[in-house]
Amino acid sequence: MCGIVAYVGNKQVVPLLLEGLKRLEYRGYDSAGVAVITSSGMKVQRAVGRVSVLESQIEKAPGFEGCTGIAHTRWATHGSPSVPNAHPHSHKTSDGYLVSLVHNGIIENYVSLRKWLEAKGHKFTSETDTEVIAVLIAEFYKGDLEAAVKAALREVTGAYAIAVICEREPHTLICARKGSPLIIGIADKSYVVASDASAIVSHTTQVITLDDYQVAKLCAGPNDKYNPVAEASGDTSGGGGPWKVDFKTTTIDDVPVTRDVQELEFDLAQIELGQFEHFMHKEIMEQPESIRTCLRGRIDLRDNRVVLGGLASFTRELVRARHFILTAQGTAFHAGLIGEYLLEDIAKVPARCHYASEFRYRNPIIEEGSITVAISQSGETADTLAALREAKDRGSLALGVVNVVGSSIARETDAGVYLHVGPEIGVASTKAFLGQVLVLTLISLYVGRRRYLSAEQLHNYLEELERLPDMVSKVLEQSDAIRTATEKCLDRNNWLFLGRGYHYPVAVEGALKLKELSYIHAEGMPAAEMKHGPIALIDKGMPVVFVATQGSQYDKVISNIEEVRARGGRVIAVATEGDTQITRYSESVFYVPHVSEALQPMLTVVPLQLVAYHAAVLRGHDVDKPRNLAKSVTVE
Ligand code: F6R
Repeated sequence: MCGIVAYVGNKQVVPLLLEGLKRLEYRGYDSAGVAVITSSGMKVQRAVGRVSVLESQIEKAPGFEGCTGIAHTRWATHGSPSVPNAHPHSHKTSDGYLVSLVHNGIIENYVSLRKWLEAKGHKFTSETDTEVIAVLIAEFYKGDLEAAVKAALREVTGAYAIAVICEREPHTLICARKGSPLIIGIADKSYVVASDASAIVSHTTQVITLDDYQVAKLCAGPNDKYNPVAEASGDTSGGGGPWKVDFKTTTIDDVPVTRDVQELEFDLAQIELGQFEHFMHKEIMEQPESIRTCLRGRIDLRDNRVVLGGLASFTRELVRARHFILTAQGTAFHAGLIGEYLLEDIAKVPARCHYASEFRYRNPIIEEGSITVAISQSGETADTLAALREAKDRGSLALGVVNVVGSSIARETDAGVYLHVGPEIGVASTKAFLGQVLVLTLISLYVGRRRYLSAEQLHNYLEELERLPDMVSKVLEQSDAIRTATEKCLDRNNWLFLGRGYHYPVAVEGALKLKELSYIHAEGMPAAEMKHGPIALIDKGMPVVFVATQGSQYDKVISNIEEVRARGGRVIAVATEGDTQITRYSESVFYVPHVSEALQPMLTVVPLQLVAYHAAVLRGHDVDKPRNLAKSVTVE
């Protein structure tokens, strides 16, 4: 979703802001903009479309030299993608200085605030909720940007991460957050702020994060200019003397807070394409490695145990749990559906996965012994965060299965297990899905062994888990064959994905991947459900993808395949290595190695990810930035 980059320091800011915006492109956006404090005041440029459009406009418009600036990629919520609606939003203070602001989040009371400000004579130029914050700050500005931002934030309700600059204080950058992510990087003689670590790591790995309702004042400038008196005089000419940097953190009510500097665990190579053409392809192909990092230190074959340090202090509650409530959205929800099967099958605890957006509003019943698990790659999905809060308010222990370290969900849970699969840049989630299923498997084994799972059963699972990365590699080797099979079916705009048991969620996930990337309509469902209606869709040549590995329901799946074939459907099957019988029923077969049924989803989903990837490439789509989608959905 929207992205923020901001900088105050000693370097020319425009190239730095544009580089940051490009790093954030993967989040999804429809317009972009920058504001820079130059020696002749604030310069703002905004454009609809890609960051490259903005870049070429700036190249043609000289005068963007300056060392303090803010930038934004917008994903439209309030108001269409247009230049007036793009950020930064700027407004003049009563003494004629421009204040500029970028914002992620949603201001819920913007209509009443706008009316109030209009009655005071302020003119608005956009349809956005964001503009009210810029106007409020200008309204409250009396020579102190920090004070004006705090006064404005005390008036707004909703979610925000903001970065604000003012012509009158050219060496100052103010940022604040509530509900939306924001990270402050402490670099050499400068500060670089972003909504996402990927825009910071090329500058520094030293960061501070803010909690909700906290504000940071970041100053960087030449010593003889960097002081409130020089700034208040409006003298922006720069000057000599040693460079001074300084930051201060307070709440919006002006209570000082101490924030520790943390080291970002982030490798730049993880967010660069390397030899790959698309991040999604890179992330699919690196899944064997992401499984290894996710498992590192967590399975101990010698002592035959699962080690989950993050859950250790809640082991008692986990073992006594009477009900697991899993909650998530999208692909993470599908991982949660597999979690239902895992927890019931391995740990023998009832488990249900709920769409977070439904769970939070439906007056959920949380009884004693309920444990809620929020599953999220980004850790910022608004609905998942809200569902988690709802469950906590009702007394549930709250656990997180999250990828992004330090994200909002990770911070608000009582305990959790990180995926540790590295940053996921492709909008369509792939390696994070595998990581989510793997962590849910580990949790099920951790609880299961303390309930009904024998030492031998655990040992078998652990041995298989250790071999899992190699098994995934074997599946990935079939990428070319999967591409050829996919190409044959691309003339059809409706596909079905079917599976039973553990593979029903895999089928639903396969359908989601295909539709979001290739814009082909696809439905996934339990194979048996087909006969209750969707079978009417099947005609000659309709592609139907079956997850048909050998397991408890294999024969039943074969019967479903027969039903599809009888109606002319074109069967693509994901089957177990060595299954020769299935070739009789299927036009194309992709094989996965044999493994326990509970671990199979982590193999069977891989060919479906590749089907979706190849379909999108073959159709000429922007794989990493599918239309209308955002990487992290921070609005409801
Ligand atoms: C689909 C996809 C989305 C996300 C969903 C939840 O490929 O990526 O469906 O899974 O928006 O996001 P997180 O996991 O960040 O909470």
